[in-house]
Amino acid sequence: MEYNFDELLNRRDTDSLKYGALQERWGRTDLLPLWVADMDFRTPDFIIDALRRRLQHEVLGYTMPHPDWRHSIIDWQWERHGWRVQEDEISFVPGIVRGIAFILQCFTAPGDRVLVMNPVYHPFFLTAQHNGRTVVYHTLQWGDIDTPAGPLHQYVIDFDRLDHDLEGVKVMVLSNPHNPGGRVWSPDELRRIALLAERHGTLVVSDEIHADLTLLPYRHTPYATVSETARQHSFTFSSPSKAFNTPGIVTSYCIVPNADLRRLYFDYLAASELNEGNMFAQLTCVQAYRHGADWLQQVKEYISANINYVIDYCRLHLPGIVAVRPQAGYLVWLDCRALGLSHDGLLHLFIDQAHLALNDGEIFGTGGKGFMRLNAAAPRSVIEEALKGLSTALPKGLSPTLPKREGE
Ligand SMILES: Cc1ncc(COP(=O)(O)O)c(C=O)c1O
Repeated sequence: MEYNFDELLNRRDTDSLKYGALQERWGRTDLLPLWVADMDFRTPDFIIDALRRRLQHEVLGYTMPHPDWRHSIIDWQWERHGWRVQEDEISFVPGIVRGIAFILQCFTAPGDRVLVMNPVYHPFFLTAQHNGRTVVYHTLQWGDIDTPAGPLHQYVIDFDRLDHDLEGVKVMVLSNPHNPGGRVWSPDELRRIALLAERHGTLVVSDEIHADLTLLPYRHTPYATVSETARQHSFTFSSPSKAFNTPGIVTSYCIVPNADLRRLYFDYLAASELNEGNMFAQLTCVQAYRHGADWLQQVKEYISANINYVIDYCRLHLPGIVAVRPQAGYLVWLDCRALGLSHDGLLHLFIDQAHLALNDGEIFGTGGKGFMRLNAAAPRSVIEEALKGLSTALPKGLSPTLPKREGE
């Protein structure tokens, strides 16, 4: 079946965060929203139809987890990512961010050090801060990496610096792949992280929510597969929610191979029934993982084409803005530093002049200064409209021949 991702869907007045929060967050509603990480595509029919079928039975009483839920995860992780997971290693969690907060509550005390990359998906450090933990920021560097598609200018880790930063750190939270940069960490990088974490006695949380959206020709590596060390000191979180556009239904889960860590964590969850799903959660996961391969391939092709379009458009028409090529996901990190604008000036350009609601790079940490994050999971015509608006709004007089290269 061929899916139509060009279709324009009206999401206003559906309690959608992306559209509904414009007034509250930007003080106006006349903006094109390309911010929070969900897709403006229809959630696939094999999920919607199953939910509809369930609702046709008009008793919404207590439910049990779908009998195929664990096995659908086991098969998916093996077939897609080459990771053999056991049934008892899996627990439902009521959202990945919450799952990470529970790790901090379970394995650290107030004041303990928690390491995150800078920049990174902001709830990683906000959750640690709000739980009274001390956040250690490891600032990512820019470098040229070798990829199957050729050299790419992307985020890299300074391992000497990471060794230093991990001193006394109880938990490191890793976005694997990385949000907002879209970096897919290589097996070698993950192995080196594991060695350092082990040396410092640090537990590693690997958030793999964007893994299923790893774009060709790149390949996702589950952190827990790179070494026995990594397997033994890690908690991996995932969910079909990003890849299949179901974040409104909480479908997240955690995989913990180490029996001692697992017992502590799963007991903690069970004590407050935090491991209980709901009528729709496990059903959605099963439908996505059992029936989603074809849809996923098509949506990734569409997203890849959108990303190519954004990169080319920036190169040709937006002097001073470089779109960093993501290796996974649909979030495009726009490097606007060459515009030479202040933070307020950059927001003024995007919001007041281009009428766009993107994520302000600074929310992801100091490393996001001068960047904006654009969500490219929208029909092409919407992306075209957004970039055209930006091109019209750009200050005139900037040299259109600013030296730049893809991903810089
Ligand atoms: C890296 C990362 N982790 C977690 C989440 C959210 O997961 P959940 O809705 O399960 O808390 C997001 C959403 O954008 C994300 O980008």
